[in-house]
Amino acid sequence: MATVAVLGIGLLGAGFASNLLEKGHTVRVWNRTASKCGPLVVLGAIHAETPADAVRGADRVHLILAADAAVDAVIAAMGDAIDGPILDHSTNLPEKVVARSEQLWSRGVRYFHAPVFMSPSSAREATGLMLISGSEDDIEQMRPALETMTGKLMYSGAQPAKAAGVKLIGNAMLFVLNTGMGDLFRMGAKTGVEASEIVSLFESFAVGPAGMGQRILNSGTAPVGFELTMARKDVGLMTATGAKLTLLPAIATAMDQAIEAGRGAEDFTSMERP
Ligand SMILES: NC(=O)c1ccc[n+]([C@@H]2O[C@H](COP(=O)([O-])OP(=O)(O)OC[C@H]3O[C@@H](n4cnc5c(N)ncnc54)[C@H](OP(=O)(O)O)[C@@H]3O)[C@@H](O)[C@H]2O)c1
Repeated sequence: MATVAVLGIGLLGAGFASNLLEKGHTVRVWNRTASKCGPLVVLGAIHAETPADAVRGADRVHLILAADAAVDAVIAAMGDAIDGPILDHSTNLPEKVVARSEQLWSRGVRYFHAPVFMSPSSAREATGLMLISGSEDDIEQMRPALETMTGKLMYSGAQPAKAAGVKLIGNAMLFVLNTGMGDLFRMGAKTGVEASEIVSLFESFAVGPAGMGQRILNSGTAPVGFELTMARKDVGLMTATGAKLTLLPAIATAMDQAIEAGRGAEDFTSMERP
């Protein structure tokens, strides 16, 4: 069993810490608002008064903090007390991760960005997906320990901020789908289609991000299946329902620009080809 420091006892951090305790590790917890550590102390965690006390002599350090400024502040407060590697699960800006990584490794501090697609309950149950960047040898050494904290550990490559970029892209898909579904629900309200009927439509009409991404990538070589001008006509029908739409008007503008640029006879997906 290891001695593990968990800094940041918010929604996600509390879940990670309780799972590590359940597995029998010695878990030191630190949080800016100290009272949030109370329920974990009841479960057997050791409350550290400072970030330095939390990390001194620990085998691993897990950070689950709001964002970059908090990560930098908490690492600064560790001073020279860091022994084990730092695994930072916060959702961060890639360029800040690069700067932090360079600065810490130059001091001999092993810093890895390991953002997660996990919820508080999946952190408690060690399910979901954890990404990680860094040298493959280092990651393979830590893999057995990290795999016990998540459902799947996905290696994102050696570049320190690759996982940060992948994490932002994954979250962006959540928000695009969320607001896209909002547009559909509002169109449904105008056209007499219940929200539950819209949800069940997509159980049979299986359009998904991976399939759409591949169709875009193939669009230069595959036969045209749905011309952009015809797709633009359909977007016009959608806006004509009178529903208050968020994403579709922006899509209409982008389609108009692509048609203006002479791409109207191409497959509608080709306008997004990188
Ligand atoms: N919740 C999710 O489902 C989820 C999923 C994937 C990724 N994430 C990412 O995981 C991270 C934590 O999310 P969360 O949902 O657990 O958020 P949260 O409940 O709001 O927790 C944020 C943590 O950051 C600490 N913090 C904020 N500013 C600080 C500062 N300046 N100095 C020191 N500590 C500071 C907070 O301390 P206090 O308690 O003192 O405020 C708290 O421990 C975020 O980067 C988030 O994007 C969350």
